[in-house]
Amino acid sequence: MNWVQWHEEYGIPGSSLARRLTVVQDHIRTALQSFVTPRLISMCAGDGRDILPLLPAGANALLVELDPSLAQRAQGHTNVVIRNEDAGAIDAYLSFGRADIVLACGVFGNVSAADVRRTIESLPMLLSPGGQVIWTRAGDESAFVRDCFAESGFDEVAFTAPADAKFRVGTHRMSAAPTPPIPGTRLFRFLDQSSV
Ligand SMILES: C[S@@+](CC[C@H](N)C(=O)[O-])C[C@H]1O[C@@H](n2cnc3c(N)ncnc32)[C@H](O)[C@@H]1O
Repeated sequence: MNWVQWHEEYGIPGSSLARRLTVVQDHIRTALQSFVTPRLISMCAGDGRDILPLLPAGANALLVELDPSLAQRAQGHTNVVIRNEDAGAIDAYLSFGRADIVLACGVFGNVSAADVRRTIESLPMLLSPGGQVIWTRAGDESAFVRDCFAESGFDEVAFTAPADAKFRVGTHRMSAAPTPPIPGTRLFRFLDQSSV
């Protein structure tokens, strides 16, 4: 997959990805209202166009993105760390510390069902108490993602499913307690990167 090319759809007004961005940003704005100086993680952040324009003063963010040119595009923001690393390895996040908001946008459609479940079950290692996760998944497969969150100690805060589009966007809040991070934990592998 050429992920730089994938991002080009964002530039097409009215495209599914452009519409998805609007919805994701609505979910982010709402989540940000729950935290005074939020700490955010974006897994597989792409060029960060969803979160970077919305960061309030005092926020800290970690963006993890494997493609070097996309990671490069995300550079240049105060209090934002960009790691050009494998976001499927929990070690990529550990020095940043816990986050109030984790973005997993464009991730769950690219990994196995087992990895979707494993990632969601592992999120309490990354989140602060009451932390929120904003995620995307296309179509009916979003039901599985919602089930995984429900079975892993999360409450659904919002779910957007436009009738005329395939994308789905959810926000879930962790009601379970955070768990101690276990270095070396594997969250996911992208299906097109068996070697990563
Ligand atoms: C579907 S795009 C989503 C990008 C962004 N989150 C968005 O919604 O616009 C998937 C992104 O994951 C990145 N990616 C793929 N495998 C990765 C990995 N193992 N670690 C970090 N990023 C990865 C790709 O380079 C690409 O930017």
